[in-house]
Amino acid sequence: MARRYVVTGRGGQVAQSLIERAEHHGEIEIIPLARPNLDLADIGTIEKALVEARPELIISAAAYTAVDQAESDAAKAFVVNGAALSEIGRVASKLNVPIIHLSTDYVFDGDKSSPYQESDPVAPLCVYGRSKLEGEHRLIASGADYVILRTAWVYSPFNKNFLRTMLHLAGSHDELAVVADQYGNPTSALDIADAILTVADNLLSSRDQRLRGMFHMAGSGEASWADFASEIFRISAEMGGPSAIVHPIPTAQYPTPALRPTNSRLDCSKLEQIHGVRLPVWNIATATTVQRLLASGAPENRPAWKRHFEENCR
Ligand SMILES: NC(=O)c1ccc[n+]([C@@H]2O[C@H](COP(=O)([O-])OP(=O)(O)OC[C@H]3O[C@@H](n4cnc5c(N)ncnc54)[C@H](OP(=O)(O)O)[C@@H]3O)[C@@H](O)[C@H]2O)c1
Repeated sequence: MARRYVVTGRGGQVAQSLIERAEHHGEIEIIPLARPNLDLADIGTIEKALVEARPELIISAAAYTAVDQAESDAAKAFVVNGAALSEIGRVASKLNVPIIHLSTDYVFDGDKSSPYQESDPVAPLCVYGRSKLEGEHRLIASGADYVILRTAWVYSPFNKNFLRTMLHLAGSHDELAVVADQYGNPTSALDIADAILTVADNLLSSRDQRLRGMFHMAGSGEASWADFASEIFRISAEMGGPSAIVHPIPTAQYPTPALRPTNSRLDCSKLEQIHGVRLPVWNIATATTVQRLLASGAPENRPAWKRHFEENCR
């Protein structure tokens, strides 16, 4: 009998990656729950959707992820990323199933000069970060059997993300200005999916309390956004795909509605020690995703790339 795991959100990067990667992890059925049946902005939908899905474990991956938009839509961000977690946690407890919840590096203010550990003080700079922190608190207070995995800078072949945006922009720009004074850990959603499935297995195999609680989980190594963009274009150019010259700029030259931490690097050693999970080095995983995206297009010429990315990489 396959194990039944529910994941919230169907089209999200992590949800899509889980659906794909579950095939490599033995007998696991991933059941995605999405709007309108499960709408985190409508708390009343949550219990029915989760109970009817009969999960053995819940993966909470859906979120209000539009970081800048959240600044002017705070009430909704706080319901979806915050209040909904009280209800998901309550229902998980009622069903007596563990929950793996994804949170973010943006709970930190970035003032630390080294990678953040789970025990470091939180002080989010933006509405998105504050709403995700509220979700952490709500889930913990719900009494659920939980793991919170804080991750960062997520990209994948799916949905909207920085890697796809860069490839798309390179279809129409020879040069791009990219922020070079924010540092973090680019993280492949496919690697996140593998990690979640291992953590899920550990949770279902043991009641050990050390397996529960807060963990950081991000790609190994670190980069600025400009480093990340340069690597994407280096790999793409090697394959004859779109690329652009990257001009490193300070954050001050690229103001956004939401403030972001200058350092949001995560120390992921606790996850490795306790769950035996270490994510691959970020540029190796980046290469895998770029190669996969390019291979799904027509590799002969640049106009074909442009068409492919205009159609697929928005
Ligand atoms: N992306 C990042 O860089 C990043 C960084 C750190 C942490 N995280 C966290 O990692 C998790 C997964 O992120 P991701 O990149 O996979 O997100 P994503 O690709 O932006 O997908 C978010 C998902 O949430 C769903 N969703 C949004 N509002 C909803 C609502 N009211 N009810 C039900 N579903 C709703 C979306 O549904 P639709 O498909 O219908 O739109 C979508 O499937 C999130 O918890 C996020 O906060 C992400």
